[in-house]
Amino acid sequence: MSKNLFRKEVASIKPYIPGKSVDELKKELGLEDIEKLASNENPLGPSTKAIEEIKKELDSIHIYPDPNCTKLKDKLCEKYNLKHENIVVGNGGEELLKIIAQTFINEGDEAIMAKPTFGKYASEVLFMGGVAHQIELKDYKHDFDKFIQKVNDKTKLIYICNPNNPTGNIMTKDDIDYLVKNTPKDVVLVFDEAYYEYAIKNDKYPDSLEILRKRPNTIILRTFSKVAGIASLRIGYLLTSSEITKAMNKMKMVFHVNRLAQAAGIGALNYDDHINKTVELNYECMSKMEKYFEENDMEYIKSNSNFIFVNTGVDSKVVFEKLLKKGILVRPGYFWELKTWLRVSIGTKEQTEKFIDALQKVL
Ligand SMILES: Cc1ncc(COP(=O)(O)O)c(C=O)c1O
Repeated sequence: MSKNLFRKEVASIKPYIPGKSVDELKKELGLEDIEKLASNENPLGPSTKAIEEIKKELDSIHIYPDPNCTKLKDKLCEKYNLKHENIVVGNGGEELLKIIAQTFINEGDEAIMAKPTFGKYASEVLFMGGVAHQIELKDYKHDFDKFIQKVNDKTKLIYICNPNNPTGNIMTKDDIDYLVKNTPKDVVLVFDEAYYEYAIKNDKYPDSLEILRKRPNTIILRTFSKVAGIASLRIGYLLTSSEITKAMNKMKMVFHVNRLAQAAGIGALNYDDHINKTVELNYECMSKMEKYFEENDMEYIKSNSNFIFVNTGVDSKVVFEKLLKKGILVRPGYFWELKTWLRVSIGTKEQTEKFIDALQKVL
C-alpha cells in the first residue's frame, strides 16, 4: 500500500481476540460438551417473561424497531424515578462505551481508568485520538489517589468499573465518596455497573443514582447481558443528566436497538424472581469455589459479581488449555498481564462441580 489509508488511531488499538465459539471448539477438540465459564453470562438463561415478550414481537421483525425505545424507557423511568431525557439505551454496554468516547473525546483529551479493567474504555478513548491513563490497581482495587493526581485541564472522563472486571471486587461507598469529593465537577465520572444486581448484595456498594442526582456530569452504565440473561440480543442502557443524553443521542445510530432486544428488556424488568434466583445461585456456587481455593491455598479476590479471579500459581495459558481439553472454557489471566491468574464465570451447581474437578486434575 503506497499511502496509509487508515486513520492513525487504528494502529494504536490492540485487536480484540475473541474466543472461538463453543461449537468450533467442540469440533476441534472432539468434545461433546463444553462448559463456557468465560464471558460472565447467566447460566440459567433468560427469564420466561423475557421469552414471552420476544415471542409477541416475532411476527413484526420486518418493521424497524422503535428508535426511541419508548416502552423500555417507560419501565426504566418507573424503576429509577427518572425521566426519558435521563436515559440512553444502546446495542449493549459496549455501544454505549463507544458513544461516550465519541461524545466527549477530542484529539489529545484525557481519560483515566484502572489497569487491569474492562478493555473497551481505553480502546474507545484511543480510537478518538484521546489519551488513556491506565492506573495500576493497588491491593487489587482502583487507586483513587493516583486517579486524582492524574486529573488536569484535559481530563474529560474517569471510568470506574464497579465491580471491576476482571477482579470482581467493588469500590465501596466510602471509596467513591472520596473520589467524588476530590474530582472537579467538570470531569465526567462513568460508573460501569454491568454487574450491579450481584454487587448490591454487599451493603458497602455505593448508590450511584444518588451521586447522579447531585452531580450532573455522572454516567451510570448497566446492561441486560449479565443477570438478565440476554447477552446475544445486545442491549444495555445508561442513566445520566439531560444535557449529556442530548449530546449522546446525536451520536447514536437510529435503529441500533433491535425489536426483540427491546421486548426482552421489558420482560426482564418485569421479573425480579428470575434475578433473585440467579443471584442466589451465583453466591451459593461461588462459595463452593472459594472453599476449594482456600483448602488448596490458592489466592483469590473476594468477588461481588458473577465471576471470580483466582491465582493458580502456574502459567494460566497452560491451565487454560488443559481445562479446555477437559471441556471447561475460562478466561486466562495473561490477557491482563497477570500470568498465573484465571477469571472464571460462576455457572450452575453442575458446572461448578465440573470446574473444580477439572482444575483439581489439571493442577
Ligand atoms: C464491566 C463491563 N462493562 C460492560 C460490558 C459490556 O457488556 P454488554 O456490551 O454485553 O452490555 C461488560 C461485558 O462483559 C463488562 O464486563
